[in-house]
Amino acid sequence: MQKIVIEGGHKLKGEVKISGAKNAALPCLFASLLTDQVCEFRNIPRLRDINTTLQLLAEFGVSHQVGRRMSINPVSVKHVRASYELVKTMRASVLALGPLLARTGRAEVSLPGGCAIGARPINLHLEALKKMGASIEIKEGYVLAKAKKLHGAKINFDDVTVTGTENIMMAAALANGETVLENAAREPEIVDLANCLRSAGVEIEGDGSATIHIQGRKNLGGITHEIIPDRIEMGTFMIAAAMTGSDFVISGGRMDHIEALVGKLDEVGVELIEVEKGIRVKAPKAIRYTDMSTAPYPGFATDFQAQFMALMTLASGSSVIVENIFENRFMHVAELNRMGANIKVEGNSAFVTGVKKLSGAPVMASDLRASAALVLAGLAADGITEIHRIYHLDRGYDRIEHKLRKLGARIKRTKVKF
Ligand code: EPZ
Repeated sequence: MQKIVIEGGHKLKGEVKISGAKNAALPCLFASLLTDQVCEFRNIPRLRDINTTLQLLAEFGVSHQVGRRMSINPVSVKHVRASYELVKTMRASVLALGPLLARTGRAEVSLPGGCAIGARPINLHLEALKKMGASIEIKEGYVLAKAKKLHGAKINFDDVTVTGTENIMMAAALANGETVLENAAREPEIVDLANCLRSAGVEIEGDGSATIHIQGRKNLGGITHEIIPDRIEMGTFMIAAAMTGSDFVISGGRMDHIEALVGKLDEVGVELIEVEKGIRVKAPKAIRYTDMSTAPYPGFATDFQAQFMALMTLASGSSVIVENIFENRFMHVAELNRMGANIKVEGNSAFVTGVKKLSGAPVMASDLRASAALVLAGLAADGITEIHRIYHLDRGYDRIEHKLRKLGARIKRTKVKF
């Protein structure tokens, strides 16, 4: 096991480059199952979840080559079973369901099970696939799906679901006829998957809006696609600047993907200046307080909630943070309080009273974005912070301590001695 050790209180400076988006790369890699042609991807980030996805593709008999580009060779899909051993480490494995079913007529995907932030059901995915002609059986913890040939359908999601929208977009790409998705997710990663499918010849309209039209095709060409930059990584670094009183440049990101966060950072006094190399982020002398509540895109992303809460722990007043997407996404609160924060939770609201300083402490990561919040708090705190169970962090941040060290942070990864 490893831990990250941070000596806080150092300002950051220089420039950091944002990697490819985890939540765009995952669906795009699974989309390669839809074609028997070689697929080429650029800007795939180096993450545990990417490795897990490549392992899953290998389980299906699909090989890959990594170089400046990543190529996937889905010429034949020999197996259709996504095992519990892999799926339990990455819930997004559920994204294999739609493509496997559409390509081969069968799929056996372990139910992902819950995770730290919630039960994470996939009922909306399964109901939609049934509407497209799939027969779905749940047996011994696996989803057994069958469909001679999927047909297009009009699907209105009861709740906005990101991977649900993505699963059905991929299934629809090879279905007979048109599929219309209503109340679809609108994230930039949805648009990126649509562009990825377009490169293989799929006709799609409305991605990025709540209504998406997909014309199914008999077969697809090879995908050639460059993954968009990771908006969550970009926002995480912006908050790092704000919490450490820093002024540095973030390159390779897209401001238009994080407008809700940019609005909140403006409210608390963070200066964001477009410069030639990207965005210069300048921390305020004092962090103003503001309330925030999460919502589906283009609202404030739940994936920024933990990091923004870390920022509000140092604000010059009290703020209320409401988590509307997941039922248990406050696991970082207890750990931040151990570092001297003053946060009280009631239901899905967290009441944060700003404090002058945080103090370093040994803390435990519980999920991906909570671990990012603890890194941010450690960078700002006085003294030493040790973050345990950092495999959560490695799932979604590409070499984060390397990037932070380049900005001047005192941060290192060491082995945990038992
Ligand atoms: C995606 O998860 C992201 N993961 C999550 O990012 C992100 O937090 C989430 O969308 C919300 O933006 C990937 O893209 C790989 P949902 P997803 O389906 O698709 C309920 C990270 O940190 N729901 O949009 O699993 C669900 O329980 C991760 O990178 C159902 O009830 O989220 C939740 O309350 C964490 N039934 C809400 O909808 C379903 O069938 C939104 O979930 C599906 C979802």
